[in-house]
Amino acid sequence: MYDIAQLDVPPLRRAAGTVRLPGSKSISNRVLLLAGLAEGRTEIHDLLDSDDTRVMLQALRQLGCGIAGDDRVTTVTGIGGSLRQVRTPLSLSLGNAGTAMRPLAAALALLVTRDGGDVELSGVARMHERPIGDLVDALRRIGALIDYLHHDGYPPLRLRAGGTLNIERPIRVRGDVSSQFLSALLLALPLVSDGGGQPITIEVDGELISKPYVELTLALLQRFGIEVQHDGLQRFVIPAGSRYRAPSRIHVEGDASSASYFIAAGAIAAVEAPLRIEGVGLDSIQGDIRFVDAARAMGAQVAGGASWLEVRRGAWPLKAATLDCNHMPDAAMTLAAMALYADGRTRLTRIGSWRVKETDRIAAMAVELRKLGATVLDGADSIEVEPPASPAAWRRAALHTYDDHRMAMCLSLAAFNPLAGARVPVRLLDPRCVGKTFPEYFETLFGVVGADAADIPVITVDGPTASGKGTLAAAVAARLGWRQLDSGVLYRATALAAMRANIAGDDTEALARVAAALALRFDGDQVWLDGVDVGAALRHEAVGAFASQVSALPEVRRALHALQLSFRRVPGLVADGRDMGTVVFPDAALKVFLTASAAMRAERRHKQLMAKGISARLDALRADLEARDARDMHRAVSPLKPARDALLLDNSSLTIEQSADRVLGWWGERNTFD
Ligand code: C5P
Repeated sequence: MYDIAQLDVPPLRRAAGTVRLPGSKSISNRVLLLAGLAEGRTEIHDLLDSDDTRVMLQALRQLGCGIAGDDRVTTVTGIGGSLRQVRTPLSLSLGNAGTAMRPLAAALALLVTRDGGDVELSGVARMHERPIGDLVDALRRIGALIDYLHHDGYPPLRLRAGGTLNIERPIRVRGDVSSQFLSALLLALPLVSDGGGQPITIEVDGELISKPYVELTLALLQRFGIEVQHDGLQRFVIPAGSRYRAPSRIHVEGDASSASYFIAAGAIAAVEAPLRIEGVGLDSIQGDIRFVDAARAMGAQVAGGASWLEVRRGAWPLKAATLDCNHMPDAAMTLAAMALYADGRTRLTRIGSWRVKETDRIAAMAVELRKLGATVLDGADSIEVEPPASPAAWRRAALHTYDDHRMAMCLSLAAFNPLAGARVPVRLLDPRCVGKTFPEYFETLFGVVGADAADIPVITVDGPTASGKGTLAAAVAARLGWRQLDSGVLYRATALAAMRANIAGDDTEALARVAAALALRFDGDQVWLDGVDVGAALRHEAVGAFASQVSALPEVRRALHALQLSFRRVPGLVADGRDMGTVVFPDAALKVFLTASAAMRAERRHKQLMAKGISARLDALRADLEARDARDMHRAVSPLKPARDALLLDNSSLTIEQSADRVLGWWGERNTFD
């Protein structure tokens, strides 16, 4: 998860490889609700772990459901369709999760009316701007007592006891607002279908939008034992006496809307090899799988099986198209991003529901695509996008994401602009919002894209031993969301491997061979050498001293060169060592040379060692540091010295945070966006 304020995505040129999708949000939250209301235990496999599902899980816990599980399997023990065991008043806080608010409001309103109780439903500020009036009207008409706590028509809501259920006559809902209302009723009404001894009927006024979501609801209801009859999705009949039965085991498909970003990436940038998507296939029950047809219409080549897709670029530039997006509002946003690479004007119609989602998506998309250089016409119910008129018309834009996961994911696709002849990075403000449905989106994307090394920004931090380079580099990398190369580790690992193999310090050939064959693996803060965690061993003073000795050998340095370059990966690299700015990354965008007095550095190292319970003498440490500095500075190859264009940073009296602020300040000055 990129837990940072802004993320700069460098210009991307390729996409290939395999991604595994997180579970579908729509399926996950419906399944959770159904399992929570059912009688018995449901084992849910591959549930999405995201903000929205966490909100739903928390609500279910408060309702008294039993929840257990691990990464892959979640078990939910339901409340058996009754609120009688639940202690109320209850206050549920549902974040910005529409997939939790609507169905919970419906289900709980009916249960409170039948069983008694008092429930308050609220969310974040944006949730309180998302309309719920149509659903509340329908629920009131069937007897529920519901109060608006702030503004009429919007959450927060209070569900009160005292009403009388009136479900004999057909229940009417408007079809043109949000299918989530209808889904909510379909999910809720079976709970009270045992009362009157007659079936419950719902009738849709006008044409139903987002039909596939309703079909998804019906498919999942069926898995939980409820057979709803319908004719053409206009009139629905829930049989009398319907009861939720836990299916014991259910599997959540990968999210088809999440797949859309990778289908688009493949259509744009999978030229030599395909981009494979696992977790969802062509026969998915999710409506958004029809994005595949739209992507094909724009030129994508898509193959697929039961739970996989493979995408390649077909037509290039993509083909501009006019597409009716009524049936896949979420994935349709991705088409607006694909339109940046089309051969003309792309028109997306019947997308009015975009206006009442996480943000007003039509307005937001228009503003942000224009910032990139596109020409955009935004209508009440449509959007038209024309790509930037020429490669030079693409702008280095800082793009807002509106706390909307789909805005962030769509806009990231603008980084493929080199394929349209441009070469600009894309800045995404507040990328954390992807956590709503796809917390690992950027990691997943960066795992399958390629960029020219020259386009991947590098910041180097060089300096003498114990100057705090590693700590500073880690802090800067964390705040930018970049990778880090602690090059000292490579020399230390070479030294350690050589010591273990009893290789002498003057056996140049053998040392170079060890360096060239290093089997190193990095996992967060851990370093593995030949499958063993060597994090602690690498920090031993003896290993450092031997590293300083072997690092003076040109053969060893040469052997480690390619390995160091391979760390330059999207979205960027902070590299620390002795010669990062001078030899390994001479084209780095920002070079920092750290200085701190030998006395200060000796003191820091002393503290570090003491904290680890290793005793050491300050004067001996200082002598050792100075000897190492001398060797690093006076060796013939890659001597320790500031690059000509390095900025000096004396951190003797600075905290790590202050040093990182300084470096990020310099970086910000050199790296500006419109
Ligand atoms: O930075 P650290 O103390 O972990 O590095 C261990 C040794 O590796 C240093 O003493 C230095 O001699 C060597 N080194 C190097 N070039 C680098 C990084 C480290 O020569 N880029």
